Amino acid sequence: MVHVGGRLTPPIAEPHCHLDAALLGARAPNRSGTLREGIRNWAALRSELTAEDVTARAIETAEMYAARGTLRIRTHVDTGSRVAVEALVALKPELLRRGIELQVVAFPQEGILRAPGRRAAWEAAIDAGCDVVGAIPHFERTTEEGWESVRLAFALAEERGLPVDLHCDETDDPQCRNLEVVCAQALDRGMAGLVVAGHCTALHSAPEPYAAKVMELVAEAGVMVVANPLDNIVLQGRYDGYPRRRGVTRVDQLWAAGATVGIGHDSVQDPWYRLGTACMLDPAWMLVHVGHLTSEADMIKVFETLHGANHGPWGGPDLLYEEGRARLLWWEDADPVEILRTRKGPAVVERGL
Ligand code: FE2
Repeated sequence: MVHVGGRLTPPIAEPHCHLDAALLGARAPNRSGTLREGIRNWAALRSELTAEDVTARAIETAEMYAARGTLRIRTHVDTGSRVAVEALVALKPELLRRGIELQVVAFPQEGILRAPGRRAAWEAAIDAGCDVVGAIPHFERTTEEGWESVRLAFALAEERGLPVDLHCDETDDPQCRNLEVVCAQALDRGMAGLVVAGHCTALHSAPEPYAAKVMELVAEAGVMVVANPLDNIVLQGRYDGYPRRRGVTRVDQLWAAGATVGIGHDSVQDPWYRLGTACMLDPAWMLVHVGHLTSEADMIKVFETLHGANHGPWGGPDLLYEEGRARLLWWEDADPVEILRTRKGPAVVERGL
């Protein structure tokens, strides 16, 4: 078959999602629409998980991603569920057989230091085969304990030779100061290129002089920031009257500072956000709106992020063609702005099988 025109790109990478919670939103609707109710609802569902259920939903979701052009997925898994940890780690070979590369982050959804046993479960998830060390410093009890959880994550990662990927400062609190600690740790331990800070929504509300300082530090430390605009445009700003903050991190200014920014989908019909489709054009489309990225150059950069910077956790973009194996996408529209406008997805997805 010969196609004329259109656009060829590498496959898309998804740097931030939660396959353990995907497709569960209808089982426990988030009635307040808040992050905290999402966490509570998930905690209730988590206690009833079975390996079969986690595996079936993860495969269904991964296939939704792949059909829409995403062949690399980094999922966080809640280390509060040993069942989910083992199911997702065990799923990696099966997904690879389908042409989908999976990385699993040991994510302590309810903190490492908040209660006895949580640190042990988090460490056990690394022992069970997770690829990446996670943390959630803004959810720890105190500022000091948040910083301590960041240091613990880096120490564990360095000891095991693993990268780090944190849910970092997913709050509207302008006083939240974990991102600077993440950068300092990355610099001190020489982990440039091995660290992802997800969300970073506090940066949206930080005072200008502080935001400028920390964004410079992010670039210097080689920390990749992943914005998750679908979730954060609805989960942030919930304590605001009007004007109501958007809560999505400062993508334009991070770019200007020289930092690497990725775009995550985050939730695919889970207790936090019911509307996910696993089409990465959706968070890209949302980001151009809420991030004021509607200049021609910015829209193109947003689209290219999906198959460019989003591959940061894998060390760079996927191959297009090698030794008879093609992993690529073909889009009917050559124009990235049209691709974002229609969000039709690629017409051809070659999985390299
Ligand atoms: Fe997340």
